[in-house]
Amino acid sequence: MKPVQLKEGIYWVGAVDWAVRDFHGYITPRGSTYNNYLVLDEEPTLLDGVKAGFEALSLANIRALIEPSRIRHLVVNHVEPDHSGGLPAILSACPQATVYCSKKGQEGLQRFFDTSGWRIETVKTGDTLKIGKRTLLFIETPMIHWPDSMMTFIQPDGVLVSQDGFGQHLASSQRFDDEFVACASQAELEDAVWDYYANILMPFGTLIKRKIKELKDMGLEIQMIAPDHGVVWRSQPQKVLKMYLDMASGWAEERVLIIYDTMWGATGKLTQAIAQGARDQGMDVRVLKLRATPVSVAVKEFWRARATLLGSPTLNNTVFPHVGELLYYLKGLRPKDRLVGAFGTFGWAGGATKEILQGFRDMGLEVFPDALQVRYLAKEKELQEAYAFGARFAQAAREFHQRYR
Ligand code: FEO
Repeated sequence: MKPVQLKEGIYWVGAVDWAVRDFHGYITPRGSTYNNYLVLDEEPTLLDGVKAGFEALSLANIRALIEPSRIRHLVVNHVEPDHSGGLPAILSACPQATVYCSKKGQEGLQRFFDTSGWRIETVKTGDTLKIGKRTLLFIETPMIHWPDSMMTFIQPDGVLVSQDGFGQHLASSQRFDDEFVACASQAELEDAVWDYYANILMPFGTLIKRKIKELKDMGLEIQMIAPDHGVVWRSQPQKVLKMYLDMASGWAEERVLIIYDTMWGATGKLTQAIAQGARDQGMDVRVLKLRATPVSVAVKEFWRARATLLGSPTLNNTVFPHVGELLYYLKGLRPKDRLVGAFGTFGWAGGATKEILQGFRDMGLEVFPDALQVRYLAKEKELQEAYAFGARFAQAAREFHQRYR
C-alpha cells in the first residue's frame, strides 16, 4: 500500500497484514493492519511504529513522502509489540528523532529493547508538543488497554490518533470507514468493532466511559479518529464513539445465543430443540459450535447477545475442554449485564452444568437457575423438555433485556 493522505500534511504510512490469523491467540479471520501516521510540518513527526517484519513497508511509505532522517519526533502511544516491534529499525532510519511516550511507556520500551541510544521524553495528559503550525496534545489512557497506553490529538486538524482504541482487525485495501462501507458493508465494519472491543477492551468499560467523558470535557473537536488497527473513522467518528459508550454501558442485542460442544452428538441434539423453543418465542437465536468456531468469535457473539446458554457434555466429571477454554477466557474479560444459563448431557455422573453455572456465578453474571441435564441421548420426552427449556430461557432473556431499554 502507498501512503494515504488523511488531511493535508497527515498521512497513513502503515502496513496491511493480510495473513495474520492468530493474534496472540485471538483469531483474526480478516487479518489486520498496523497503522502509523506521518505529520509533515516544520518538525516532521511520526506517530507509532509497526509490528516487527513490517518496518520495511512502513519505511517505504515514509520514504515516498520524506527522507526518514528528517523526522524529528516519534510518538509511541503504546508499547505492545504489534506497534513497537518495528521501532528499532524505524529509529535507525530516523537518528534525529526523539521518542515521546508515557512514563509507563518508557518503562515498557526499556524492558523490550536496548534503549541506551534512544532519546526518550515522557509526557502526560495535557502536555503538548508544537511541531510547526500544528500542536500535538497527549492524552494518557492507562489500562485502555495497557498501563502505558495513550492517544495523541493533532491540532488544529482535529485528528485523534487513538492507538488500539476504536480499532478493528480488518485487512483491506480501504483506509477509511466510508470506503470500507462502500466496498463491504456497515454491518461488517460494526461487527469488527464488536469483535475488537469484546476481545481486547471488554474488561475496561468503566475506564472507557470515563475517558470518553474526559475527551468531551476537554472540548476537543474530533473530526477524525485514526486508530492503529483497521480503517480510519473519517465519515463517522461520532458513530464509533457512541458504539463504545453503548458497549461500555452494557448495550447488547436482544438475542439468545447458544454456544455448545458435543462429544457423540447428544448435546448437539439438545441444542436443536432448545434453539427451536427459543425461536418459537419470537426470539432471535444464534447457535455456535465450539471447535467449529474460534473462541474469540464465540466471545464476540457472547458480547453482542443479551443472553447466552452454554451447553457441554460431561467429561471426567467436568466440562468439555473447549467449553472450559471459553469459560476461562470469559472470566478474564469480566463480562457484565448478560443473562446466562447451562445445559448438557452426561453418562453416569453429571458435573458439566454445575461447573458452567458456578463459572458464570463467579463472573457475577445473572444466572438462569434452571439448568437442563439429560443422561446419554435425549428421547422424545427429553426433547420436549429441551424445547420448553429454550422457551423459558427466551422469556427470561426478554424480561432481562427490558432492564436495559
Ligand atoms: Fe494493537 Fe495493544 O496492541
